Amino acid sequence: MNHPKVAKTDHDVLEVIRARWSPRAFDITRPVSRDAQMRLFEAARWAPSSANEQPWQFIVGDRFTNPDAFASMLGAVDESNQSWAQYAPVLVLAAARPDSEKYGQLNRFAWYDTGQAIMLITLQATDMGLGLRQMAGFDHDKARLACKLTPPFEPVVMMALGYPGEPEVLANERHRASEGKPRTRRPIADFVRWLGVVVLGAAMVAGAPAVRAAGPGVAVPTDGYKVVHAYPHDRTAFTQGLIYRDGVFYESTGLNGQSSVRKVDVATGRVLQNVPVDAKYFAEGLTDWNGSLLQLTWRDGVGFVYDRATLGFRRTFRYSGEGWGLTHDAKRLILSDGQPAGALRFLDPVTFAETGRVIVKDQGVPVADLNELEYVNGEVYANIWQTDRIARINPATGDVVGWIDLSGLLKPAERTNAGAVPNGIAYDAATHRLFVTGKLWPNVFEITLAPRPPRASGAPF
Ligand SMILES: Cc1cc2nc3c(=O)[nH]c(=O)nc-3n(C[C@H](O)[C@H](O)[C@H](O)COP(=O)(O)O)c2cc1C
Repeated sequence: MNHPKVAKTDHDVLEVIRARWSPRAFDITRPVSRDAQMRLFEAARWAPSSANEQPWQFIVGDRFTNPDAFASMLGAVDESNQSWAQYAPVLVLAAARPDSEKYGQLNRFAWYDTGQAIMLITLQATDMGLGLRQMAGFDHDKARLACKLTPPFEPVVMMALGYPGEPEVLANERHRASEGKPRTRRPIADFVRWLGVVVLGAAMVAGAPAVRAAGPGVAVPTDGYKVVHAYPHDRTAFTQGLIYRDGVFYESTGLNGQSSVRKVDVATGRVLQNVPVDAKYFAEGLTDWNGSLLQLTWRDGVGFVYDRATLGFRRTFRYSGEGWGLTHDAKRLILSDGQPAGALRFLDPVTFAETGRVIVKDQGVPVADLNELEYVNGEVYANIWQTDRIARINPATGDVVGWIDLSGLLKPAERTNAGAVPNGIAYDAATHRLFVTGKLWPNVFEITLAPRPPRASGAPF
């Protein structure tokens, strides 16, 4: 539509939204120019508000232009927040007036509207390479004084603003660790309810058909897990692909210069054979086909074929787009590309030509970041990058028919690296054993799924 008020596409904005995070580590040496600040507050000007009252005010304490004001604002935030906010270049107090200027009565939307303005500032900051973290932990009276805030304005939230810096500056170990951790989020089905939804209680019981009904309007169950056994795993392996065949694991590891295809002893985790991949490639998903192993690369559009028995290199093949996960059903290779559109692509296992694709949807919403794949009993299991979740996908329709929540599987102390997210699903079809691991994880876990009762809407996860 060529209307001046219609944004171009939702995807560019969505990428900004998804890339946004709340840093605690700031680059104390880098000021935020007045021009940049003006651009930020310009974003707030365009926030929607009830009766268009725009009931907010922002008070800025800039370390570089007014160190005294900055210091007294910092004195208003609580100790834990001070420990990191002391390195921020700018502090901002967001305030709101709770009375309506137009109607002289309580404006129930004053805080809500101010939150919308803050969110636009936050997105604008992200787009400018700035970081912003909000703080509820501060003393309102001290903030009022420091900011010379007069009635009817009330403090809402304090914000630290600046260019993100190195986590090493953070004094608190927990803060340092959380800086690099992936952000966790509820699945959409947790907080959006489509009216007319039928809960498939029957699908929860063991012995339900392998492919459960799903699609828009059908609630998707989430399973937990039980650990049957924890096997050792090479914790330097940046796992990108894992399969179980004839008593051993075959594994693909990623990163440039550390990529490999390997054969691994299940019980001990010992690497029985390791074939390095040329350092110019970042290896990704792995599957087998007809006595071969097939391995993807992330962004090179090239895959490698090895002899499964000897790991001897046989040939390369090409495919379009990015390569993330790889598995196969009886007739086709199935590839994920991690893109926001949520596609699973089907490839001919001999010619590698794409023969079709489905969009993976959770109740109608495309699922981005589909990573390592495994074909299990007619379903495709997919790790969702940077989450603890595995999607169970009906490959015929792309519908997510269930989720597996792996949270808690790796103890926080063992997640030594921000990249150490769950990745790697292997299935032993003969004995129905399901194995999962992660990048740089010390273990491969054999798990069984533990159905959970459907959650009441709005209940905590
Ligand atoms: C109203 C509000 C108050 C917050 N208060 C604090 C706070 O006092 N200290 C802090 O370190 N983070 C605070 N946060 C930051 C949140 O913890 C953070 O945004 C959340 O964990 C999500 O992380 P992400 O923004 O990186 O995705 C606050 C966020 C909001 C929206």
